Amino acid sequence: MHTSVETSHSRALFKSNLAGQKTSRVPIWIMRQAGRYLPEYREVRSRMGFEEMCKDPEVASQVTVMPIDKFGFDAAVIFSDILYIVEPFGFDLRYNPAPKIAPLLENPDQSKMFEQFDPAEKLAFVSEVVRATRIRLGDSRAVIGFCGAPFTVFSFLCGYMGAKEMYRPYAYLMKYPKEAEHILTTLAEISLEYLKMQARAGADYVQVFDTAAGELSEAEFRRFSMPYLKYIFEGLKSSKIPSGLYIKNSNHLLDAVSELPLSSFCVDWKTPLKTASEKLKPVSLQGNLNPNLMIGPKEKVEREAVRILNEMADYPGFIFNLGHGILPPTPEENVRRLVATVRAFRAGKAQ
Ligand code: CP3
Repeated sequence: MHTSVETSHSRALFKSNLAGQKTSRVPIWIMRQAGRYLPEYREVRSRMGFEEMCKDPEVASQVTVMPIDKFGFDAAVIFSDILYIVEPFGFDLRYNPAPKIAPLLENPDQSKMFEQFDPAEKLAFVSEVVRATRIRLGDSRAVIGFCGAPFTVFSFLCGYMGAKEMYRPYAYLMKYPKEAEHILTTLAEISLEYLKMQARAGADYVQVFDTAAGELSEAEFRRFSMPYLKYIFEGLKSSKIPSGLYIKNSNHLLDAVSELPLSSFCVDWKTPLKTASEKLKPVSLQGNLNPNLMIGPKEKVEREAVRILNEMADYPGFIFNLGHGILPPTPEENVRRLVATVRAFRAGKAQ
């Protein structure tokens, strides 16, 4: 049962905003909306491992729609993870809940592990999750598929978990540039097929997460990430699949990002929406409420949401989101207040 108002318009609304059109209200979804802040999620998770949940299309699609049923988000992001792409190459992947990959990418010989594979065969469970989600939601909501950017997946393979371990991908890139290029190229080719597969299964929009790219200088981004993103986004564009990109800490990369053929860019909370608007216009923008503020009193959540809505009131194609994933201690009443605030706001009317 999908109880919230304007349900039947959510999917069309979301798609119009991705196309940069002005609409009657601002659509909303949030990164990690199907996650640990939800008691229903924690209940399922107490009985099953994360990986077991992701690989069971019935369970994964049930978890995908939990936040839709509960809060009335306009789009459902499939319950999965960016790192499953490493398993078919022969890497072992465990979650606890942080991902652990074995062996880590450390020597040049390991680049031979990166042979082409067909995601429709090796990552079939992901298209089944998309299909099962579409069946649960019908036409009412948009479905979002995703993958990790080649640079970010490569970084995790090298042992990156955050800024502190960034020296690891740098070390591999500096010591073995040819092998790194082969790995990144192979990841790009498979990622494009992987996203096309999710679109064929029913995803309305696919988002590439380049979380780690914000740690690069602009020149390094242009060298180590952008060529592979370009390959993916050009491929999606020629297949007419709406596509978007998220980078954590993207402020210094916006000029480069503006050269990519994206439908939408998801802005982190440290990057001012005004700067992103000026640099990326007319691309659809998403963002960028600081997820840390979602813990605070709900009045402050509302105030910050209204500030963002006012700032973007004249920007066609704006979609509300957080600047990164929602944090596990976020109170549900704050999420409810956020969705109500965004739904009540009429585009073009300052409040
Ligand atoms: O709701 C959604 O957004 C859809 C599902 C989703 C997950 N991961 C589920 C997940 C998505 C889109 C991702 C993307 C992802 N995964 C990214 C890019 C976005 C970002 O957060 O920067 C990255 C870097 C990963 C890799 C990853 N997976 C990490 C670093 C972690 C541990 C950190 C954490 O949040 O605990 C995971 C595990 C993970 N992925 C969980 C979930 C719900 C927690 C698993 C659990 O319940 O134990």
